[in-house]
Amino acid sequence: MDPAVRLFLLALVFKSSESLGDELVKNGGFESMDHWGCWQIQCSLTTDKHSGHHALKVTGRHNWYEGPSQFIELTPGHLYTASGWVKLLSDQPGQPGQDVFLEIGYTYTDGSQYFFVAGSHNGVKTSDGWVHLTGNFDVPKKPTKEVRIYYQGPDPSVSFVVDDVSLKEISPVSNWRHISDSVINQTRKSDIHIHVTTASHVKRADVEIHVLQKKRSFPLGTDVSYTAYNSNAAGGKFRAFLQRHFNWATPGLPLKWHFTEQRRGQVNYQDALTTIHGLRKQGLKVRGHNLVWSVKDYVQDWLQQLSGNELRTVVKQHIIDIMNVTHGLLEHWDVNNENLHGTWYQDTLHDPDYDLELFRIAHHADPNVKLFLNEYGVVAGGHSTNDYLKQAQHFKAANVGLYGLGVQCHFPSEYAPEPSLIKKRLDVLAQAGLPIWVTELDVQAQDENRRADFYETALRAVYGHPAVEGIVFWGFWDQAHWLGRKASLVQGDDMQMNAAGRRVFDLFENQWTTDETHSLPTSGQLTVRGFHGDYEIRVMHQGRELANLNKTFTLAKGDHSVNINVHQ
Ligand SMILES: *[C@@H]1O[C@H](CO)[C@@H](O)[C@H](O)[C@H]1NC(C)=O
Ligand SMILES: *[C@@H]1O[C@H](CO)[C@@H](O)[C@H](O)[C@H]1NC(C)=O
Ligand SMILES: *[C@@H]1O[C@H](CO)[C@@H](O)[C@H](O)[C@H]1NC(C)=O
Repeated sequence: MDPAVRLFLLALVFKSSESLGDELVKNGGFESMDHWGCWQIQCSLTTDKHSGHHALKVTGRHNWYEGPSQFIELTPGHLYTASGWVKLLSDQPGQPGQDVFLEIGYTYTDGSQYFFVAGSHNGVKTSDGWVHLTGNFDVPKKPTKEVRIYYQGPDPSVSFVVDDVSLKEISPVSNWRHISDSVINQTRKSDIHIHVTTASHVKRADVEIHVLQKKRSFPLGTDVSYTAYNSNAAGGKFRAFLQRHFNWATPGLPLKWHFTEQRRGQVNYQDALTTIHGLRKQGLKVRGHNLVWSVKDYVQDWLQQLSGNELRTVVKQHIIDIMNVTHGLLEHWDVNNENLHGTWYQDTLHDPDYDLELFRIAHHADPNVKLFLNEYGVVAGGHSTNDYLKQAQHFKAANVGLYGLGVQCHFPSEYAPEPSLIKKRLDVLAQAGLPIWVTELDVQAQDENRRADFYETALRAVYGHPAVEGIVFWGFWDQAHWLGRKASLVQGDDMQMNAAGRRVFDLFENQWTTDETHSLPTSGQLTVRGFHGDYEIRVMHQGRELANLNKTFTLAKGDHSVNINVHQ
């Protein structure tokens, strides 16, 4: 990267750095029991602390959701960062670990309640010692009666100690839109220098230059439903839409192991391969999703019966097989899906480093395909952002072939994406120094104009972040979208764009695509700053295109020069 650009981007990151409000938690250090409530559980002070002299020991729980709590005051619409420490005092026999949450509970004035995870850590064991739960969030814009911050999660049989709870307001990035526009200008565009020489009898005032971007370089993709893609009724329209509006695709289901080998030994690669070959023939690049999925619910029954060396052998063979049959067809693989939220393979093998081994196996099977982690709760939510950064740094240091960070970006129902939080979370993840891909974007709003606003905000925040290298939607057509119409861009049998679709494709195909006509200055020199992609420059004289003077080229990072000689 150009040093000036790098400096400029650093300045943007620096400018938006955190300013923190006052501490909102009273006695967060548990030097006494003041201000904390222990309803239906037992709490006592202990010197087994994280800092200071004491911490709070929590025992006698009857439900997983019980834990010490404190009433706090939050302002609707404002942004906060929460932090707290927890240490387990026992493990649950036969269980891999405990999921632990720093939770915010709202009771609204209408009596309804809403519970929100501010910080989480899955699979915690006593051997982990003190675990940090942290994240940032925005408060729903609803009249609120009371708010509590509390710990929850572990099985009631597992006692724990908590310490150093903190909650502070953080400021929004007030100029986020300006920052987004500047980043887009700096990272998605380059200068095209056009030098035109003219024969003496050609008046430069009569010459016009048309700079037309024919193709976008920026990867824009979607999950592709293999049933819709291969359907007799809708397939034609579906494929035509894909080809017209996207240059990347992720067949979201048919490569998953629980799909390809639901019963042991009965392997179906055909649905995936048919779809992948079709997509590639259409000129789309394809992401592989995913080699294994560590969340237990998605591990097939037959696989859950295996352990030890047999499990290792079967997993390794699966990875080698599927990477072999898709060899040369895929650009990316998500290796171990949602590994912050599931560690089934590591737990079953009693091998915490098996997460690294999975990458080694995949990298060895095909060193050319780019390998990703893929996670939720890291950009659309913030409860796992810091853990994801740590995981990324760990993988990077282990040098196992990790290329980039997949951030899923499934926004909650009727939730307006908060651009400041998206930016702050991406800034955290960008510290890993790895490319970030938005891998599964969707927002949800019944009202299509509201949905259009939600998509636009999310897209400006991610496209306007310098670490983001590609964006993949998790579907576009209501009839093939896992969330149905409320997340869709296109709807009905005839696949009409709704307001959300019109907004999204206006951004990419109009606002973020270059198509400019300029009259030639008397100097004969013209600079056009264009979005990266394939270009054609056409020369017009007295309103008529001059044949054979057109130039085609690809604009990437770095300036591009074009010389044109008009001798009409
Ligand atoms: C975009 O970037 C170029 C090159 O750094 C700069 O000359 C131009 O002023 C910028 N445009 C806007 C609108 O910021
Ligand atoms: C890879 O697949 C091909 C068929 O596509 C097969 O002939 C070959 O034996 C496979 N190699 C491995 C290592 O499985
Ligand atoms: C544009 O250029 C290509 C080759 O570079 C040529 O085949 C084509 O005819 C040109 N088009 C016009 C309108 O001159």
